[in-house]
Amino acid sequence: MKGIILAGGAGSRLYPLTRVASKQLQPVYDKPMVYYPLTTLVEGGVREFCLISTPQDLPRFQQLLGDGNQWGLSIEYREQARPEGIAQAFLIADSFIGKDAVTLILGDNVFYGGESFQRAFREFERGAVIFGYHVHDPERYGVVEFDAHGLAISIEEKPTQPKSNYAVPGLYLFDNEVVNITRALKPSPRGELEITDVNMAYLRRGRLKVYRLNRGFAWLDAGTSSSLHEASAYVQTIEKRQGVKIGCPEEAAFRQGFLSLDRMKSLTDSMPKCEYRNYLLQVIEEARHLPAEPA
Ligand code: DAU
Repeated sequence: MKGIILAGGAGSRLYPLTRVASKQLQPVYDKPMVYYPLTTLVEGGVREFCLISTPQDLPRFQQLLGDGNQWGLSIEYREQARPEGIAQAFLIADSFIGKDAVTLILGDNVFYGGESFQRAFREFERGAVIFGYHVHDPERYGVVEFDAHGLAISIEEKPTQPKSNYAVPGLYLFDNEVVNITRALKPSPRGELEITDVNMAYLRRGRLKVYRLNRGFAWLDAGTSSSLHEASAYVQTIEKRQGVKIGCPEEAAFRQGFLSLDRMKSLTDSMPKCEYRNYLLQVIEEARHLPAEPA
């Protein structure tokens, strides 16, 4: 499965932070925000990426992530000239997707915990898979309505009267039909190709699965100054308590077998002395002495 990271948009809600560096390059505690969605997809087994951002910001993402080879990945870059909708990503990345299935993740969504995503990636065959996450303010999101059997019957984008508390997080899995479905979409009244319309098209065909994420799972959105601060505090709390890092692409690539222990060691040796380097040295040390963690 190919992976798209959508990291465009104006970041206006974070102004003046975003005057010189885009939202998805801002720190979430100890790493740039984009490390988190990238790591989530690597943990799902995705190895080939296309990152989409604005013409101004794209060079900085390239500077940060390179061609991905250092992590055993490949990363291509494409411009989105104007923010004309999340679903536009499938048209921009059409030639990258080719004949494959594709997952799209929003560059400002931070996820942590559980096996739900990995299982969804492993079991994906066709159609579309999205998730439902219980929130107190569903009107800010795409909202799923379920019937009495737990089957999704509608999805509405930012409804004034939400039909449930289940919001759709910014991680979606699609088969190759997504490109044709998006081509047939018309822009919404706000002038965007809506991801919710793509999901609705799959729902109408009877090809949409919605997995509800359990309460042990964290979905943090880092789009406003206070949610950015809260996301940082959350990551710091978990990292300090557990001594593990969230959103560490080197470690995820290593655990997926994309990066050998020796390559990870030389990559780590080339880093300046810092906490991040110390952490990776510890991962390497543990991997030399301990069998892999139980799944
Ligand atoms: O966060 C999950 C929600 O994301 C979903 O529940 C909604 O269904 C979905 O529409 C979206 O809602 P948002 O209001 O959060 O979308 P927003 O316009 O803020 O865009 C989300 C991210 O995607 C943001 O970091 C900027 C980026 N983006 C957005 C658009 C519309 C782009 O890179 N290009 C775009 O054209």
